[in-house]
Amino acid sequence: MRDYESENGIMMFGGMPVTDIAEKFGTPVYVTDEQRLRENYRNIYNAFAKNIDTKIHYACKANTNLAILTILAQEGCGIDAVSVGEVMTCLKAGFTPDKIIYTGVNVSNDELKAVTDLGVMINIDSISEMERLAKINTKLPVSFRITPGVGSGHSDKVITGKKGSKFGIPKDKVISTYLRAKELGFDIKGIHAHIGSGGQSVEPFMDMMEVLIDTVNELKENGIELEFIDMGGGIGVPYKLNEEEMDINDLAINLASMIKEETSIKTLILEPGRYIICDSTILLTKCVDVKDAESKKYVGVDAGLNTLIRPAMYDSYHYVTLGNKFGKACTAKYDVVGPICESGDFLAHERVLPDPQEGDIVAVYNAGAYGFSMSSNYNSRPLCAEVLVNMGEAELIRERETVEEQWRHQIIPKRLQ
Ligand SMILES: Cc1ncc(COP(=O)(O)O)c(C=O)c1O
Repeated sequence: MRDYESENGIMMFGGMPVTDIAEKFGTPVYVTDEQRLRENYRNIYNAFAKNIDTKIHYACKANTNLAILTILAQEGCGIDAVSVGEVMTCLKAGFTPDKIIYTGVNVSNDELKAVTDLGVMINIDSISEMERLAKINTKLPVSFRITPGVGSGHSDKVITGKKGSKFGIPKDKVISTYLRAKELGFDIKGIHAHIGSGGQSVEPFMDMMEVLIDTVNELKENGIELEFIDMGGGIGVPYKLNEEEMDINDLAINLASMIKEETSIKTLILEPGRYIICDSTILLTKCVDVKDAESKKYVGVDAGLNTLIRPAMYDSYHYVTLGNKFGKACTAKYDVVGPICESGDFLAHERVLPDPQEGDIVAVYNAGAYGFSMSSNYNSRPLCAEVLVNMGEAELIRERETVEEQWRHQIIPKRLQ
């Protein structure tokens, strides 16, 4: 896992002391380092592009902030979108429709119509979706998401590729579905699978690729030649201090040589979300309360599961440290807990920290993926701010929401007033 430098005992992030960022923008606040974001994109693009024609489509569900999307658009990245809202947001950020692939699940006719009207390629998830799309438009380029029967992920809740999954065309129906698509007149371009999110080993990706390659070749025998394989996202990143990174260069070499040796496929598409945004971002939250509860010590902070739900939802590990006591000797073990009225509201369990006090700034690492984008208004807490830092300069990229803004769509019927 990536760690940070400090100056005078203060953690530095993107060339700035985290205490300055917290003071200027308040807490809780997500802070993204622009340089790291660009570097992550370039790392994964270069690793694969050295070996095969590659297109990176950032899975924007990980974070859809317009400024972050704009940076990735500048880099030449494409988009994996899962809703019409994500498609519209990415168009607003400057992506052209040809840079976006839409992969929905349980997609309504209204959403299909809206996405096709925006001119975006659809990656079809089910036979029902294909038949319904055929009644709207068969002139669009399409691909199909298949269920490869291979799963991988940091939690069972994010494994998507196993047999019986709600995602994709079941393996035994793939060939007949493509043949039906051809009969319907679709412009068939590719095949897609996504095994799950946050897996740290290479093998499941290789296993999935074998299934995709076999399918590509069987389709060719049936008169359907594809242009691309889209291997989805799911490349994990280390969340623990001494955890090693998965070797993406090795992964790229292996996958590209399989494709080149065994198929006539020209292009490989990847949809990384976590790999691109995760370690570019930290969450800064303030210690507001310290409690010794006999059997446990608590650091109470102003960010809870409303701000970062991953620990409560998946039992995910996020490294935490005190940004204003960086590198100081740790005194005891603490649970870092939030302001939400649930005993499951925590950011970290049993962490050694250096004598936490009210006013200390807690930095939560690797908060960029599925952090802000999964945050909520639970307990009527406003969504927090987002800040972009770039070589020592910090700019607000999302204002902190107000309580009043949470009322804006609510209506009290006249008869109750
Ligand atoms: C279809 C698809 N592609 C890509 C991703 C991105 O996964 P990750 O952020 O783990 O790279 C997801 C995540 O759920 C997904 O469902």
